[in-house]
Amino acid sequence: MDPYLRDVLDVCLRLLHVTAAIAWIGASFYFVRLDLALRPPKDARDAEAGVAGEFWGVHGGGLYHSQKYRLAPREMPEPLHWFKWEAYTTWLSGFALLVVLYYFDADVRLVDPAVADLAAWSAIALSIGGLAAGWVVYDVLCRTVGERSQAALAVVGTGLVALAAWGSSELFAARAAYLQVGAMLGTIMVANVLLVIIPAHRRLVRAMEEKREPDAAYLLRAKDRSVHNNYLTLPVLFTMLIAHFAFVFGADDAWLVFVLVAVLTALIRVFFNRWHTGRRVWWIPVAATVGVVALALWLRPDEQPAQTEPVPFAVIQPIVEQRCATCHQGASAPLGVQLETEAQIKAHADDVERQAVLTRAMPPGNATSMTEEERELLGTWIAQSG
Ligand code: HEC
Repeated sequence: MDPYLRDVLDVCLRLLHVTAAIAWIGASFYFVRLDLALRPPKDARDAEAGVAGEFWGVHGGGLYHSQKYRLAPREMPEPLHWFKWEAYTTWLSGFALLVVLYYFDADVRLVDPAVADLAAWSAIALSIGGLAAGWVVYDVLCRTVGERSQAALAVVGTGLVALAAWGSSELFAARAAYLQVGAMLGTIMVANVLLVIIPAHRRLVRAMEEKREPDAAYLLRAKDRSVHNNYLTLPVLFTMLIAHFAFVFGADDAWLVFVLVAVLTALIRVFFNRWHTGRRVWWIPVAATVGVVALALWLRPDEQPAQTEPVPFAVIQPIVEQRCATCHQGASAPLGVQLETEAQIKAHADDVERQAVLTRAMPPGNATSMTEEERELLGTWIAQSG
């Protein structure tokens, strides 16, 4: 794809994706909080009318009063607001981004021959297949294990997330591997909305229209899926944001880092969900902080061994020209990082060291076949010139 067109699509789709995701997750966090903070209705008439709980909130210059019905009110309310396009738009724009950035440029961004020497089309097929397989496996688990015990489902589910993260790290370039897992979990979340939660709401509305008692089983199932989405939110956000941090996705055991972070962030959700019911479970933020510090220490890249032999720029210049400047030159240099002159390379020395020496995130997929020796020379030169 033309690089300028790709950048333009990247900006537009990314903005749409992030905006839709904020709208979706914002509403979803709000409703989780609402649900957990419900109190029995004060007015006996409300209880008689089928109200299970009520919630008062103050926001944006006014007081709001929400009521949740045990099943449904007697009369069909008009208009009834639905929450679904936020989720669908998030997925559609996210998938479009995946196509534009990772499938069109699969050779460079999705495939890393040092990880798995895949043809571009087979890497794309594996990625799309993974998105579909993730949902199918999860859905079957919910209908079997999940029907009996949500706790057992959480344990099996975490194991499968670990398997998916490890599998991706064996198939795709490091950065793409993280995104793939995030896309798989995100797909599960949206499919929950499309295939379980919204259909349950449709049944509820139909039952009301036909003046019969709605089937509570579908609503309970929808509630479970909505809770799963709540716990998946932060791990997915992490995979989406971490593509900017090579020290994480480029780490040796990056897949394991993700699993640990997924558990920590899910715990953070537990903390807030308990908080909404009025309980403060302080060991969770303490454990999460200890976990983050431990991860940060673990991920700290090794310092390069000091080398005494001086490395002149004349040695570095052809390396950077061949391995980096093919992309990093002129006005279209990625992220404006131009690496043509000594001054430019020095100006980006810290980033260059992190990307090309410490984490090997650059060149992407080692597109320009940079050797280990060249990375060492570059590292030494940066150390000496700093
Ligand atoms: C095949 C093209 C290509 C090659 C070759 C390449 N890069 Fe990059 N580089 C990119 C792209 C694309 C990005 C932007 C990544 C993104 O979107 O975050 C980038 C980003 C960077 C960044 C900024 C990272 C950040 O997140 O701030 C640095 C620094 C960098 N590259 C250094 C290098 C060095 C050093 C080399 C050579 C050893 C190199 N690159 C080779 C394509 C390339």
